[in-house]
Amino acid sequence: MNIAVAQSGGPTCAINASLVGVFKEALKEPQIDAIFGSVNGIEGIIHNHLVDLKTLILTNDDMELLRQTPSTVLGSCRYKLPDYSEDDSVYKKILETLEQRQIGAFFYIGGNDSMDTVNKLSEYFRQESVDIKVIGIPKTIDNDLCITDHTPGFGSAAKYVAATMREIVRDSSVYSIPSVTIVEVMGRHAGWLTASSAVLHALGETAPHLIYVPERSFSLDAFMRDVRQEMAKHKAVIVAVSEGIEVPEGVQSGVVDNFGHKYLSGIGKYLEEAVRKEIGCKVRSIELNVMQRCSSHLSSKTDIDEAEAIGSEGVKCALNGDTGKVMVFRRVNEMPYTIVIETTSAANIANNEKFLPDDFITPSGNNICDSALSYFLPLIQGELNTIMEQGIPKHFAIQESVLK
Ligand code: F6P
Repeated sequence: MNIAVAQSGGPTCAINASLVGVFKEALKEPQIDAIFGSVNGIEGIIHNHLVDLKTLILTNDDMELLRQTPSTVLGSCRYKLPDYSEDDSVYKKILETLEQRQIGAFFYIGGNDSMDTVNKLSEYFRQESVDIKVIGIPKTIDNDLCITDHTPGFGSAAKYVAATMREIVRDSSVYSIPSVTIVEVMGRHAGWLTASSAVLHALGETAPHLIYVPERSFSLDAFMRDVRQEMAKHKAVIVAVSEGIEVPEGVQSGVVDNFGHKYLSGIGKYLEEAVRKEIGCKVRSIELNVMQRCSSHLSSKTDIDEAEAIGSEGVKCALNGDTGKVMVFRRVNEMPYTIVIETTSAANIANNEKFLPDDFITPSGNNICDSALSYFLPLIQGELNTIMEQGIPKHFAIQESVLK
């Protein structure tokens, strides 16, 4: 049989490593012939836009390069499948492509929205008695997938956020005047990535002095009070704030994607202006923006290795006859950090969100408890031996004309 793999949702540093995992494992399996890559996620299957990965990833060096390349080499999408009981036309198109290409297993690397596709597609195939396996490989910097201990992509993003925050600490403390620096971190409605900046506390830094996550309600008055209190203790106050905390209408653009998720951005600027107006000190806001999900020069080796391993386990799972499953991590030991890869039904993950546990957040609601740091620290360990060209990390790329 042939197989197909696609990448979906927001980019991370580890999605291509999962692709490598699927690819490498499939190469080892004598029963798998062609390995197709679907361009722009499920949209590539719908429009029969597939590329033959064996003609594009030729050597072990290519795979090494792909592992260190951020984002999605095959492109991505935010496409929501309709309910097939209401409209099955797009399912028929998908089936047509898969049957025409003799694809017996489809691997979808994505977040909770993409697992909705895995769930619906596998259910549809079951109903139609079609023997095509559909397996989800998780990823997201938001770390908001249920069941799994963490998601591929999160560790690298967390490492970048904490390392960058530490650099900001050094930069912001040079002058004698008091200052406030607000760092806006992605993560949608879950505060995992923002909370992970607290690992700096384990390294002896007092910053971030304040950490605001969407799991707690936000009040501008309380924020100002907190900032003033921290300014009494520290010359340069560093604040980490999740993009998803509740803010007044109009701060964010209000634009939504196909899943109805708002494009979140702008909270840092809003708070910067509020501090300038009310406190009047030197204040700066920094939106880490897409850098936190594509800065692969500071990837976590643990994250990249795990992302490859979970992709490879996905192939084994399909060959064992499973479908409608998502691969997940279970942490079996904290010290030494040990995980095992298991599966769960896609229905348990699709469209659900996992939030920070209550006991990770301090009673004051404006910082992260030291006891939570042992969760984050193992995920950011290790560095890739990055291949460079002319002093810049080298990336694997597929020619634009091939992907058109
Ligand atoms: O879901 C991952 C994520 O990076 C979120 O943290 C962020 O809010 C969103 O994607 C941004 O969406 P886009 O990729 O469309 O800019």
